[in-house]
Amino acid sequence: ALAAAGAALDRLTRVQADFPIPGVLFRDLTPVLADRDALAALAHALAGAQPDIDLVAGLESRGFLLAAAVAMVLDTGVLAVRKPGKLPGDILSEEYALEYGSARLEIHPHDVPDRARVLVVDDVLATGGTAGAACRLVRRAGGIPAGVAVAVELTAFPGRRALGDVPVLALRSWA
Ligand code: PRP
Ligand code: MG
Repeated sequence: ALAAAGAALDRLTRVQADFPIPGVLFRDLTPVLADRDALAALAHALAGAQPDIDLVAGLESRGFLLAAAVAMVLDTGVLAVRKPGKLPGDILSEEYALEYGSARLEIHPHDVPDRARVLVVDDVLATGGTAGAACRLVRRAGGIPAGVAVAVELTAFPGRRALGDVPVLALRSWA
């Protein structure tokens, strides 16, 4: 599954220059997600990141598309890790730094069973700000961030370092 997923990413990722701003080379994974075999290969490859997963955390918005597919493979539920202001009632909130300013992610802590091993799934790992905030939310809710699994890691950023000792699976590493 690992080799098939990597090959699908190589074949179907659309590389777009100067998006969203001049000078940025954007890796667009939408053609990968839209392909039946590629989506299945990615879901199975990411599902193998760590053993004994109890819950898959999906990071709004692009992570949602992969996380539910991974959860179906692992026969788990999905933890919705949402952008601010979307979840009603009791929430936990974690801030993370952006190049300019900051952002936040939120969860319902009651959706995380005590000591649950949670696999954090997203499309891309860059600075690690997003995945790092998700790991902190899982921990604060009483779960264990067992791993971070992403389709693509951008090696220009120190994403792995930002995640401390949480193991990272990336199906492709691109500069
Ligand atoms: C993108 C991407 C990852 C994150 C990676 O999400 O989908 O979630 O950036 O960057 P980082 O490692 O530096 O945090 P974005 O915040 O653009 O939002 P989206 O998923 O809603 O498009
Ligand atoms: Mg995202």
